[in-house]
Amino acid sequence: MSDNPYSTTVLAWYESHARDLPWRTPDASPWSVLVSEIMLQQTPVVRVLPAWRSWMERWPSPADLAEEPSGEAVRMWNRLGYPRRALRLHACAVAITERYGGEVPEDHGTLLSLPGVGAYTAAAVASFAFGQRHAILDTNVRRVLARAETGIQYPPKTQTKAETALAESLLPTEPSVAARWGVAVMELGALVCTARTPACADCPIAHQCAWKLAGKPAHDGPPRRGQRYAGTDRQVRGRLLAVLRESAGPVPKEALDAVWNEGVQRERALDALVADGLVDPLDDGRYALPG
Ligand code: ADE
Repeated sequence: MSDNPYSTTVLAWYESHARDLPWRTPDASPWSVLVSEIMLQQTPVVRVLPAWRSWMERWPSPADLAEEPSGEAVRMWNRLGYPRRALRLHACAVAITERYGGEVPEDHGTLLSLPGVGAYTAAAVASFAFGQRHAILDTNVRRVLARAETGIQYPPKTQTKAETALAESLLPTEPSVAARWGVAVMELGALVCTARTPACADCPIAHQCAWKLAGKPAHDGPPRRGQRYAGTDRQVRGRLLAVLRESAGPVPKEALDAVWNEGVQRERALDALVADGLVDPLDDGRYALPG
């Protein structure tokens, strides 16, 4: 077999350690996989689980979501954060319904052409929903490969061509095995090869890991900044949007003004929500979720 030196080990580890997540079951629909991948991009699994369940219950197919105003997607997004993803998912549902008869397309290039679907999401859906052979590079996979193969603690801030080439070179030959390898490496990064406190003692490939074998040299690149939330415009936007989500209809400006004292920052946050299409300013001066 020309498969990489740890595929068998990592796949065996995955068999016995993988979390039982509903979008990984054999009967998970391609739509449910697409929804999960967009939610998981910037939100941890524990917070995605209840949101994904509610979403799939309400909109089991792209056509169900496409029928509703995009504001309902923003409302359902609740507190997952980065709510532009809700609009993207809605736009995706509309495109899938209008162009592909309501079926999530299988072809990687076609997936890529959907609104808001980038290289990662297209590869993840093609691989996890349709069993195809694609390199999957999310933050977890990038970290595992940086350590195991390149011998560095953290991958570069932005993804490089070298990382893509490396991930492609490690893909098992058989498409279904490659798809399983993708999710297995991701799980290894999420559960064992974590960013701050990797559990090398529990790692099935520790004895083959370039970083571990080099004595785990510390990261020498630019400082990795944690994502502060308190006091940021993102927090203000979250509060403004929460007012609209929790209201059945449009709200007066005063209701929005009440959630943040600092006026300049508050207006900037509201402007950004309007510019992103997440909030509609109405002619009568009130504000609403998009129609
Ligand atoms: N399973 C499949 N895709 C995943 C992801 N993006 N994060 C965590 N678990 C996953």
